[in-house]
Amino acid sequence: MTKHRQIEREFGVPIAGEILNANLWTQTALKKLPDGPLDMTALFGRSAPLVLDIGCGNGRYLIGSAVWRPDHDHLGIDILPVVIRYATRRGNQRGLRNLRFAVCDGQRFLTQHVAPHTFAEIHCYHPQPYYDPQQARRRLIAPEFLAQVHRSLLPGGKFFLQTDNPGYWTYMRAVVSFFFEFEELDRTWLDAPRGRTRREIIALRRGLPVFRGWGTARVNLSEEEMVRLAEQLPPPVFDADRRLRELDRLEKQPE
Ligand SMILES: C[S@@+](CC[C@H](N)C(=O)[O-])C[C@H]1O[C@@H](n2cnc3c(N)ncnc32)[C@H](O)[C@@H]1O
Repeated sequence: MTKHRQIEREFGVPIAGEILNANLWTQTALKKLPDGPLDMTALFGRSAPLVLDIGCGNGRYLIGSAVWRPDHDHLGIDILPVVIRYATRRGNQRGLRNLRFAVCDGQRFLTQHVAPHTFAEIHCYHPQPYYDPQQARRRLIAPEFLAQVHRSLLPGGKFFLQTDNPGYWTYMRAVVSFFFEFEELDRTWLDAPRGRTRREIIALRRGLPVFRGWGTARVNLSEEEMVRLAEQLPPPVFDADRRLRELDRLEKQPE
């Protein structure tokens, strides 16, 4: 008898991997974080290059990466429990052992639960722009956060950043190069021409521009210099353009 492959789609775009029989499901939820740094070797039962996605949403990018790069271990963090439930369900159903998701604030996660020089890659796709100026201080991409990303990366580690918000991108471009050898991409990622994440797929379907870039942690950037940069660079104050709120509504629609 031919087994029916269970491929899931989101806005018509396939989600990597396939849903396995329940006896092969895994447990990708990391329900409790320790008081101090996470022991990644104990968590994954091996020592492999580590990939972190901050504000991972429903986990689409990490699930694909975990399927296609079984030799890497992956961790997704989001502040919103409901999106982590979507992410873990899909991770479990695909039987992935190199993937975990946890509910946590991104800045707090890096500061309290990550030892220095842990990750080979840190990804941040479409961080919340927070349209209300009163909430501007909740914006994740800020000098102190970038310093913390730099500290958390291995030497030569890579940072990936993306947004559909022009105001946020202008700000990101202004500050990110102080910490990373950063380059912008003028096309979609080669592995995901229809979008790496749910939010990117929505933006592309609406014909909106998406801004992408990546870079390696600057070498010879001392701790003192990073502290100085974190104090002196401007905070993320910009006009987030309320018209783009429509995208948030689409993103929150049930899957
Ligand atoms: C616009 S969505 C993008 C989700 C996903 N990266 C994507 O591209 O589809 C922003 C995500 O960041 C999460 N988020 C907002 N503030 C956060 C914070 N301080 N720490 C971690 N996640 C946060 C939200 O819950 C939401 O899932």
